[in-house]
Amino acid sequence: MQYQSLEASPLTPRIGAMVTGLDLAQPLSNQQVADLHAAITDHQVLFFRDQRLDPPSLRVVGQHFGNLARHALKGMAEYPEVRQLHADETSKHVSGEEWHTDMSCSPIPPMGSILYLHTLPPLGGDTVFASMYAAYNGLSDRMKDYLEGLTATHDGMMAFGRFDPNGKYPKAVHPVIRSHPVTGKKVIYVNRGFTSHINELSSRESAHVLDYLYQHLEDPYYQVRFRWEPHSVAFWDNRCTQHLAIWDYFPHVRSGFRVQIEGAADPVATGSLREVAS
Ligand code: SIN
Repeated sequence: MQYQSLEASPLTPRIGAMVTGLDLAQPLSNQQVADLHAAITDHQVLFFRDQRLDPPSLRVVGQHFGNLARHALKGMAEYPEVRQLHADETSKHVSGEEWHTDMSCSPIPPMGSILYLHTLPPLGGDTVFASMYAAYNGLSDRMKDYLEGLTATHDGMMAFGRFDPNGKYPKAVHPVIRSHPVTGKKVIYVNRGFTSHINELSSRESAHVLDYLYQHLEDPYYQVRFRWEPHSVAFWDNRCTQHLAIWDYFPHVRSGFRVQIEGAADPVATGSLREVAS
């Protein structure tokens, strides 16, 4: 799709586009920022090749889209909003090794995240993104009706406890079906990484319904799989996607850094978006 200042070529019919014609290390014009906003709204996740970024320049790119949000896990000493991702032969876990929406354990999860990788393993290390619009649209009308009005608890300990079991992480309740604050379109909003249970169901019912939803939304039909090259960037809309970082490259090195952009309270969810612990 052609925008005034850049081109975004779709990678699948449902999600993902490769952006060309943009050097993210250079100051972005208002037109370029407006076009990136439009492109991410249209494609949910944008990919860029051959970028040369460092932590301060990635921070500047992110700030075009809002205030940067601190991650629950520690950022870089000099740039606390920038988090280093690094996996090597000593890693016991990597970030994102389970399907998730970033920080859905927060009462106001980030609107998006931007990840830059400079070092890749010889093979593997892809990231898979799934469209929660498409997954919602794939449900039957009866199932959509059933899920409407249910809420789920999202617990940071589930995703982050493996990195630091003594850390204190947020917990939040969100609707199982949410509306995207910009497009108004509905998404499925539960994920394996953070969702502990559906509040209105018995634990057995909750486990079965969540299991069904995970199997449904992880269908490859709703996905795009990004094969990284050194100096690639992925920018995803965290309000309508989930992703999985495939850790199939141990003991090789995969390294880069990321920022996340603050979200806004979802007006459609007012009243049910509440923090249950901190
Ligand atoms: C993440 O989930 O933020 C990490 C994604 C990746 O490393 O590909």
